Amino acid sequence: MHDPVVLRSKHLARFQAEPVVFVAPGRVNLIGEHTDYAEGFVMPVAIDFATLAAISPRTDGKIVLYSENFEEEKTFEAAALPAAPSKHWSDYPIGVAVLLAGEGQTIPGFSLSIWGDVPLGSGLSSSAALEVVTGLAITSLTGVTYPGPVLARLCQRVENEFVGANCGIMDQFISANGKESHALLLDCRDLSFKLAPIPADIAIVIANTMVKHSIAGGDYPTRRRESEAACAIINGHRGGVPFLRDATLEDLEKWGHEMEPKSYLRAKHVITEDLRTVAAEKALEEGNLAEVGRLMAEAHASYSKDFEGSCPEADAMVEMAQDLPGLIGARLTGGGFGGCTVNLVQRDHAKAFAEKLGARYFAKFGIQPQIHVCHASGGAHRLD
Ligand code: GLA
Repeated sequence: MHDPVVLRSKHLARFQAEPVVFVAPGRVNLIGEHTDYAEGFVMPVAIDFATLAAISPRTDGKIVLYSENFEEEKTFEAAALPAAPSKHWSDYPIGVAVLLAGEGQTIPGFSLSIWGDVPLGSGLSSSAALEVVTGLAITSLTGVTYPGPVLARLCQRVENEFVGANCGIMDQFISANGKESHALLLDCRDLSFKLAPIPADIAIVIANTMVKHSIAGGDYPTRRRESEAACAIINGHRGGVPFLRDATLEDLEKWGHEMEPKSYLRAKHVITEDLRTVAAEKALEEGNLAEVGRLMAEAHASYSKDFEGSCPEADAMVEMAQDLPGLIGARLTGGGFGGCTVNLVQRDHAKAFAEKLGARYFAKFGIQPQIHVCHASGGAHRLD
């Protein structure tokens, strides 16, 4: 699906140099929302939307980035990398160079052409895909290669320390380490993971509400702060709870009255979501799809009501899916406040499901949603 030929020939024509080409996928999260930065569990899948990067070395010490999507070029000096972001698409790739330089790597001059089909601002991790693919491309020139989990951590730091988005590790991790036909139950504390096979007769249908989501905006960090405030109260009482991963529902019962009502609800979502995520992996492994669907429904209700991370369009998209033939489970996926729902659907029904869901959504909101029947893909790699 992602043929490197076009990008390679465009790169050659623009920069007069043969590149090597890399790919990194976007992701959809089946369950486990806002648990990653609480050192809990997530269960994402790499999808067949991806970002490609073609790279070749330069001898003039310049870093020239070209985005095929934006049809725009931006030039930097390898020896004088920027200290701050400029609220531009180039922040992600140049941020990777900045962080690699901070790790002691000598960043050479290079030309980098980028093209991707991960819809931007839809909660499918276009920025993580861009960071991870750039990380693979640059390290192919420096010769210091990073194992997938290490590359993921570096790319998360690009968001946290350079771009200024306070995200967790999920998106970068799955983009770097995804596995064909599998979801990954990731323990965000130690980055150990378990592969959960997606049965061949199940399709992953991603429905874009077309409501733009941004994790750099105010809601994501607010929710994070609120949940962390609840954690601090529990930790103040019994210690050993640096993250909500370590808290229990009993803790919440005991000390919830000391919390701001919103903090209590955010923490309730995170604590119960961790339990649901681990249970969903087990159910998937046992082939208990009814249980997977039930857990997804519970997760959506918790995300929407307790975490207040949804929006009317996403709630409606989930609701409208409920009585469509073939549905196993539906919920809002990703950072929240818009973006996409993820639907697990019996493959035989997937096409009709997508059509009917799209028609229902259009009838209600007058907006044509993009609906994609996706496949669980592999993680980032070189394309040759
Ligand atoms: C965004 C962030 C992730 C994670 C999710 C919510 O995608 O980048 O780290 O926190 O939101 O689960």
